[in-house]
Amino acid sequence: MIFYFSGAGNSYAVAKQVADQIEGEQVVPLARFNDFKQCDNAKQIGIVFPCYGASAPDIVLDFKNKLFSHINKENIYVFAIITYANSAAGSYLDFKEDVDAWFKVKMPESDIYSTSAPGPAKQKSLLDKSVTEINNFAKDILNKKDTIMYRPIPGMRFISKQGNKLIKHIYKDFDKKLYSDDKCIGCKLCIKVCPVQNITFDEKPVWGSSCVNCFGCVNRCPKNAIQVGKKTKNKKRYVHPDYKNIYY
Ligand SMILES: Cc1cc2nc3c(=O)[nH]c(=O)nc-3n(C[C@H](O)[C@H](O)[C@H](O)COP(=O)(O)O)c2cc1C
Ligand code: SF4
Ligand code: SF4
Repeated sequence: MIFYFSGAGNSYAVAKQVADQIEGEQVVPLARFNDFKQCDNAKQIGIVFPCYGASAPDIVLDFKNKLFSHINKENIYVFAIITYANSAAGSYLDFKEDVDAWFKVKMPESDIYSTSAPGPAKQKSLLDKSVTEINNFAKDILNKKDTIMYRPIPGMRFISKQGNKLIKHIYKDFDKKLYSDDKCIGCKLCIKVCPVQNITFDEKPVWGSSCVNCFGCVNRCPKNAIQVGKKTKNKKRYVHPDYKNIYY
């Protein structure tokens, strides 16, 4: 089983590309998974997720802790893949006790609040490069190789913790800053793209308090009508091309 958490689709696409190369393998969104008995017969278990603030997102760490309290790691090959835009930083450190293999892959930026999505040419070159890298991971995973793709330099845990504190500060009131502007056509797609079911609809989208700032709704609204405060108004959106028809 390959679990994924994804906002703009990068981690979904990576998980899917690996799964497609392993007979009988499937991808499963981790945000709502709780039937861990299903993992008992898994030949391998993967977790694919984005780097948030130099670390794994909290929702992924919570899932990982639940998963590892249910499965017998001795009998199952466990791997993790982190997708990131600039640096995977110390994210491996939260997984090093638990995984047999660890991979990272650079993908287009999904956070269009603190930074910006790359233009089409840069997106294409990143995605083209990622396909080759992911095919190589898939070979290692098929052969159950104990590959640790990188080990952070000493001091990286400290740097990651600072990065994570900063991102948590920046995104403290994220859900309160989300709104739909007058471009909204009421199609309700945003409800279907939220991995944690944080959006309802009452004449216009309404955001609850469980947002995990994945940027899925912001990037995937077909009218670019979802804003985070004022900073996203004129920014381009990014969605991985393989994610267009994936809903929750
Ligand atoms: C809230 C947030 C924080 C992020 N922080 C980092 C970061 O610290 N370092 C980094 O390289 N990329 C960071 N990114 C970019 C994503 O890790 C990257 O674009 C990832 O591939 C997105 O995956 P997804 O489409 O599966 O959500 C961040 C993205 C978001 C939404
Ligand atoms: S996806 Fe965009 S256009 Fe559709 S209801 Fe949500 S905010 Fe409005
Ligand atoms: S409300 Fe939007 S940003 Fe928040 S978790 Fe849902 S899709 Fe992601």
